[in-house]
Amino acid sequence: MFASDTARLTDRSPRSGVPASGIPVEDPLLGAIGGTPLVPLPSIVGPRADFEVWGKLEARNPSGSVKDRAALSIVRAALGDGRLGPGRTLVDASSGNTGAAYAMLGARLGFPVLLFVPANVSASRLRALQAYGAEIVLTSPAEGTDGARVAARARAEADPRRYFFADQYDNPANPLAHYTGTGPELWHQTGGRLTHLVAGVGTGGTITGAGRYLHERRRTIRVVAVEPTGPLHGLEGLKHLPTALRPEAYDPRVPDLTVRVETEDAERMVVRLAREEGLRAGPSSGAALVAALEVGQGSPGACVVAVLPDAGEPRGEGSA
Ligand SMILES: Cc1ncc(COP(=O)(O)O)c(C=O)c1O
Repeated sequence: MFASDTARLTDRSPRSGVPASGIPVEDPLLGAIGGTPLVPLPSIVGPRADFEVWGKLEARNPSGSVKDRAALSIVRAALGDGRLGPGRTLVDASSGNTGAAYAMLGARLGFPVLLFVPANVSASRLRALQAYGAEIVLTSPAEGTDGARVAARARAEADPRRYFFADQYDNPANPLAHYTGTGPELWHQTGGRLTHLVAGVGTGGTITGAGRYLHERRRTIRVVAVEPTGPLHGLEGLKHLPTALRPEAYDPRVPDLTVRVETEDAERMVVRLAREEGLRAGPSSGAALVAALEVGQGSPGACVVAVLPDAGEPRGEGSA
């Protein structure tokens, strides 16, 4: 969605915490989701390169990450068909960013949010979720987001009248947000010049939705998925799909290519981004740029666009 588009959700009675359906409101905070800047990264590519790399600054979304797009799309669909309404609590699993997005929307629109979060989440991320008023259940760090997802589903199924299981990993509203938002934005911001889309795979919503849209505009655009090299990695937000539960939000037919990136290479890129381009970014952004350089180097004249999902956290806090 473009920033100029107005978010339309349903109104709620003040303090009741309940969206009372049917009354459209225009909310500039929700309208600020999407429409993020696309910036060139000349120092990262270097003066002698014969290709361009651009970064899509998703940290500029209101709760600080690309996940505002998917969360808004999921909440809007659920409010629209009554799965989220009076007396119901949104429940989902998240390693951080989606949780922050849901919690922000819950605070803004007045519905309770219950999050299942692996216990190795950083202290600052936990504080952010709690600041929005979300209720948190910590799950086994060894089982990661897959374990949190199983626990969230079990809670929702135990009391389906009370809970709406938002299910970011399987919810079609997630990739749809990128098909209607991120993809068209990239097409317009590059004037249709882009030759490669590079994005990390967490739920797969970004690469599936934006990639599908861009392929429809021009089939020769190369859609490049980024994954960690193995199951144990520090690329918060990304999944090693060969060893993870396959999310339905991810359509494996969309990417033309998967590039696997080492955590250390991504971390080095994060340092370069801050020092050479003035951009704070998380490890998954570093990974996307490592992959962007890799595909650009074999493609003279390429216009490579990398999605930079968030700004990461200050060193020493970890990022989740
Ligand atoms: C930091 C970070 N990077 C990348 C992603 C991947 O985005 P998607 O879920 O759309 O595949 C996520 C998703 O949670 C994330 O939190």
